[in-house]
Amino acid sequence: MAKIYINEKHEKGKINPEIYGHFSEHLGRCIYEGLYVGEDSQIPNENGMRTDVVEALREMKIPVLRWPGGCFADEYHWKDGIGPKENRKKMINTHWGGVVEDNSFGTHEFFELCRQLGCKAYVNGNVGSGTVQEMSEWVEYITFDGVSPMADLRKKNGHEAPWRLDYFGVGNENWGCGGNMRPEYYADEYRRYQTYVRQYHQDEPVYKICCGANVADYDWTEKVLAGCSPDAGRFMDGLSLHYYVHPEGWEIKGSATQFDAKTWYKTLSKAMYMEELVTRHGAIMDKYDPEKKIGMIVDEWGDWFTVEPGTNPGFLYQQNTMRDALVAGITLNIFNRHCDRVKMACIAQMVNVLQSVILTEGPKMVKTPTYHVFHMYRYHQGAQLLDSYIEGAEMIGEEEAYLVPSLQESVSRSEDGMINLTLNNLSATDGQEAEVVFAESRPGRVSASVLTQRMDAYNTFDEPDRVREEEFSAFEITDKGLKLTVPACSVVLLRIAER
Ligand code: AHR
Repeated sequence: MAKIYINEKHEKGKINPEIYGHFSEHLGRCIYEGLYVGEDSQIPNENGMRTDVVEALREMKIPVLRWPGGCFADEYHWKDGIGPKENRKKMINTHWGGVVEDNSFGTHEFFELCRQLGCKAYVNGNVGSGTVQEMSEWVEYITFDGVSPMADLRKKNGHEAPWRLDYFGVGNENWGCGGNMRPEYYADEYRRYQTYVRQYHQDEPVYKICCGANVADYDWTEKVLAGCSPDAGRFMDGLSLHYYVHPEGWEIKGSATQFDAKTWYKTLSKAMYMEELVTRHGAIMDKYDPEKKIGMIVDEWGDWFTVEPGTNPGFLYQQNTMRDALVAGITLNIFNRHCDRVKMACIAQMVNVLQSVILTEGPKMVKTPTYHVFHMYRYHQGAQLLDSYIEGAEMIGEEEAYLVPSLQESVSRSEDGMINLTLNNLSATDGQEAEVVFAESRPGRVSASVLTQRMDAYNTFDEPDRVREEEFSAFEITDKGLKLTVPACSVVLLRIAER
C-alpha cells in the first residue's frame, strides 16, 4: 500500500495557468486544416477557425498559445502574412514538408484565434534570418495605439485597436535551426534584439523570453545567463527549455502505437527525466537569479515518435495512446511541483503534430488521451501547490536503467477551496492500492474521474471515445483521508472538499 501524505496547511506557491499552454506552428496540418480552414470552407467555422476544435480547446481551458514556430519562426517574415489575402506571398515551407505556404494565416488570424479561444498570446520572433527592425516593427504593429507607420498599417488592414501581446520569444532554438549560434554570440544578439521589443503599455508589459537550452545543454544556460548578467532580469522575463521524449533515440524514435511493456517503461522513464532537467537548469538560474524573477519557460515538450505510416515525414503526424496520457500526467505533475520556477510550458503541438490534444481528418475531429489529461488537470491552473509526498511506491520496469515509481502525484488547492489531487499509476498491468493521509483536515465531499485503458489504446475517427475521462467512485473516505485502488495504467483526478 502506498501512502500519499498531503500537508494541506502548507501552500507552496501559485501554479501559473500558463504551465498548461500549447504550441501551434506552420507545420504539417496544425494551422491549415487543424485550426484554420478559411471562411469559405464546408467545415463549420467562425472567421475561418474550425468551430469544433475551438470549442474543444475552450472546454479544456487553454491558457496560452505559442505561434508561429518553432523552426518556422526564424524563417517567418511577418509582413508576408498581413493585408489582402490574394496579395500575400506564396512560398515553400522549407523546414516542414516542402509544401506551399500561402500566408493566409498571419498576425490578424492568430489574434482572432486567441480571441475565440479566450487565451493569452505568445508570439515567437525571428532572430535567425530577421532583422532587429523587422522584430521591432512587428511589436509596434501588434501593440502600439498612437500614430506610427506600423500602427497606421494595422489600422489600414482593418484592425483599429492594438492587440494585447502577453509573451514574446526573441528567437527559437538559436543553438540549432534558429541560426546555429554559440551561446556567447546569442547572448549578445539577445541583448540587442530585446532592446527594441518596446513596451508601449507600461500596465501590460510584454514578457520577453530568451532562447534557452536544448535538453541537458547546461553550458548554454550558464553562458547565456552570464552574457546577460549582472542584471539578467533586466533583459529577460523568461528563459526557455526544450525537451522531447524519444523512446528509441532521436534517429529511430519508434512507433506511436506499436510498442511493448519494455518500451512503455523506457518512455515513461524518459519523461521523468524532466525532473532532473528542471532541477539542474533551475540551479544555474538560481545562481544568476536567486530571487527567481526569471521564469523557466518549457515552450516545447512532449513525445516525438515516428510519423504514422503513409503520411508526409515532414508533417510529424503521430497517433496518441495511453502512453502519451501518462507522459502528459507525469510532466504536468513535475511542472506543478516546480511552479516556483516554471512559469509557462507549451506541449508540442496542439493539433495534428507530435503529441497533440486534437487530431482532425477532413470534417472529423478526435480528442486524444492527452487531451483528457489536460482537461482533468485544468483545476490545477491558478491553484496553490500543496506540500505532498508518496511513501511506499515501488520502482517498477523491465530494465534497470529505466525504472519508474509505480505512483506519482501532485496536489493543489483551487480558489474555491477544493483540493485537487492528480495521480498517475505508471504500471502497465497492476492496480496500486493507496491511502491519502491529510495532516489535519478530513475529506467531506469528493468527486473523481479516471482515464484508463490498455497501454496502447487510442482514439480513432471511427471510434473516438475508446479512451475517455470517466467518473471514478472506487474510493472510501476514512478518518485520515481516503483509500483507493488506482487502476493500472491510469490518470486519476480527485477533487476533495475539506470538512
Ligand atoms: O516541434 C517541432 C520542432 O521541434 C520545432 O519547430 C523546433 O523548435 C523543435 O526542434
